[in-house]
This record gives sequence, structure tokens and C-alpha cells, in this order.
Amino acid sequence: MLTQCFHRAVKSWCARTDTPREQIFITTKLWDADHGYESAFNALVDSLKKFGLDYFDLYLLHSPAECEQKRLDSWRALETAQKLGIVKSIGVSNFGAQHLESLLQHSKVVPCVNQIEVHPFGQRKDLVALCEKHNIKIEAYSPLARGNKLNDPRIGEIAERLGKTPAQVLINWSAARGNVVLPKSLTASRIQSNFDSFDFELSEKDMATIDSLEENYVTGSLHKSED
Ligand SMILES: NC(=O)c1ccc[n+]([C@@H]2O[C@H](COP(=O)([O-])OP(=O)(O)OC[C@H]3O[C@@H](n4cnc5c(N)ncnc54)[C@H](OP(=O)(O)O)[C@@H]3O)[C@@H](O)[C@H]2O)c1
Repeated sequence: MLTQCFHRAVKSWCARTDTPREQIFITTKLWDADHGYESAFNALVDSLKKFGLDYFDLYLLHSPAECEQKRLDSWRALETAQKLGIVKSIGVSNFGAQHLESLLQHSKVVPCVNQIEVHPFGQRKDLVALCEKHNIKIEAYSPLARGNKLNDPRIGEIAERLGKTPAQVLINWSAARGNVVLPKSLTASRIQSNFDSFDFELSEKDMATIDSLEENYVTGSLHKSED
């Protein structure tokens, strides 16, 4: 029901806006139940119809299927969709090293992004390094650790000294690490203030302090064998 409302809202907004389509960036993902070549391709086309779009800018596998063959088949479906021009770029989410290595070994197109949980308290350094090696951009989800670490005193000290909020410091740190940062808020004023996270630069010392907060903290549950 909620998904249908969302599709309708996006469709209606796209129909009404004066903003040219090429200036809007629309990403969506393949849901876990739709893995497999045909089902993934059909799900993508079905999604386009529901949104009333001709193409997606970015389409991701939401998570790796446990079955390697199904995962590779889904990826092949995305490659086909990209060739047909109904999706511009293709990527993955919640892929661990072994999923990426298998994909890289068996596929033609390298994913342009891996959307994974990354924040100072869980930096996923090995996985991030692997992605960097293959030019796979990190999309950092839960960059505020779902709000669970905004009271951390070390973040608080930096924020107060710079006249910023703890959320702005976390977002800035992630962007400085080269990530596409995906914070979420349902509060209009926080959405605005999260946007205003890029008008300052963290010093090397502050970056190092934030780097040192690693504690392998994960807010969600990692997908099977993600790490
Ligand atoms: N690919 C995946 O599997 C996956 C998994 C998880 C999340 N994601 C995506 O990642 C995005 C963000 O992740 P997330 O929602 O898990 O975590 P998040 O962005 O780290 O944290 C969201 C929480 O932080 C609070 N918050 C946001 N801005 C704030 C601010 N300036 N000050 C104080 N509190 C603030 C929000 O509360 P209010 O809403 O009350 O402001 C909310 O409780 C979402 O778009 C989500 O769809 C993807």
C-alpha cells in the first residue's frame, strides 16, 4: 500500500514538475524476492511503468541473493537493461567482498556503486578499499548511525568547536572520505541542516579523531556473508 502511494506520488510529481527529466536523478532497487534473470528484468520494467518513467538513472540490486547463480543472473538482467537504455547506471547494495569478487569475475559491467552502511563507528575499511580498487563508489547509508551516536562526546566536541551539529560533522566526514552520503530525516529542519554540511572542512586532526572512533558498529544486520 505504502509502495503504491510512493509510486503514485513520484509519478504525479514527475508529470507536474517543470524540471527537465535529465536534471532529476532517480534511483531504485531490485527487491530480494525478484532475483533471477527474467524476474529481475520484469521487476525493473514493471517499476518503470509504475513510476511512469522511460528510464532510471541508477538501478541497484538491493542485496546479494544467497544463491550465487541467481545473483549473477540478476546482474545480467541489469546489464541487458543498461544496454537497452532503460537504466543509465547499475550498481549493488549490501554486497560484501566475496559477492563483489564473484560478480567481478563473472560479469562484464563493474557495478558503479555499492550502497553499504558506513559511518565513523563502522567504517568497513577492507570492503571500502576493495571498492576503491575497482572504482566502485561507496554510497554510505545510515551515515548518522541511525541517530544512535549523535551524543558521542568526541563528535560533540568537534561540532561545538566548529559551530556545527553532530549530524553535519558525520555527513562532512563521510563526504570527505569520498562517499556519496545518504542521511535520512523525517524532520524538515533537519533535512535542511543536513544539506548544509558542506560549507566547512574538517582538519586532518579532526579527521583522524573521527577515524579513531571505529568500533565495528553496525545498526542493521549484515546480510549473510556480507563481510
Ligand atoms: N541499502 C540498504 O539496505 C539500506 C539500509 C538502511 C538504510 N538505507 C537508506 O539509507 C538512508 C539513511 O539511513 P537510515 O535512515 O538508516 O539512518 P541515518 O540517516 O543514519 O539516521 C536516520 C535517523 O537520524 C535522525 N536524524 C537525521 N538527521 C538528524 C539531525 N540533523 N539531527 C538529529 N537526528 C537526525 C532521524 O530522525 P528524524 O527522522 O526524526 O529526523 C533518524 O532517526 C535511508 O534513505 C535508507 O533508505 C539503505
